[in-house]
Amino acid sequence: MSIKIAPSILTADFSNLGALINKLESGGADDIHLDIMDGKFVPNLTFGPLIAASLREVTSFPLDVHLMVEAPERYFSAFAKAGVKSLTIHSETCQHLYRSVQLIKEMGLKAGVALNPATPLSVLEYIIQDLDLVLIMTVNPGWGGQEFIPAMNRKIRELREMLIDSGSSADLQVDGGINSRTIKAAVDCGANSLVIGSALLKEQDLTKAIKDYRSLAEE
Ligand code: DX5
Ligand code: ZN
Repeated sequence: MSIKIAPSILTADFSNLGALINKLESGGADDIHLDIMDGKFVPNLTFGPLIAASLREVTSFPLDVHLMVEAPERYFSAFAKAGVKSLTIHSETCQHLYRSVQLIKEMGLKAGVALNPATPLSVLEYIIQDLDLVLIMTVNPGWGGQEFIPAMNRKIRELREMLIDSGSSADLQVDGGINSRTIKAAVDCGANSLVIGSALLKEQDLTKAIKDYRSLAEE
């Protein structure tokens, strides 16, 4: 399965977002990961569909939206109108997870489900075949720059087995604490879509950094 590098712009300089997106795009990233936080499901607050729509104006790059918000269905159509590629919702925020996934797909978007570190994989058992992406939170959601939780490697491995057993070709995305020390083990356990935030954005030469992360993941 091909490796995808999805930079998270959470720790970016927001006064200069357009320029950063263009650099990430020309530097060889696969998607841009947008972290949407509501100050309720997670303590932090970020941005919404208006920023996604502005980014759509400066790039044709796929926008991968991670919704860390209560009752995320309220925002599906605004993000669809903003032209994003995929919406990933947290199982912990949806009373009717199956219905929410269907709604995303009916809007013509790719549908993902994210799980907090303590949420068991069993919540996916009857829905896995409908998903385009499963996101394993490898930190507690809310901030960039946290440490990867080592116990998540076993969860990644077990999810990869579930995906294989169910014949699913969904992406297995990992999000949080991915850096040059943690990337290899996560990929060896079965992750193929790597959200990288602070570890990537601190680099001066983004093209080289993306290339280096890709080689570490593919070696
Ligand atoms: C955390 C977010 C992540 C975050 C990753 O709640 O979902 O996408 O930006 O940042 P790093 O790579 O710095 O852990
Ligand atoms: Zn994220």
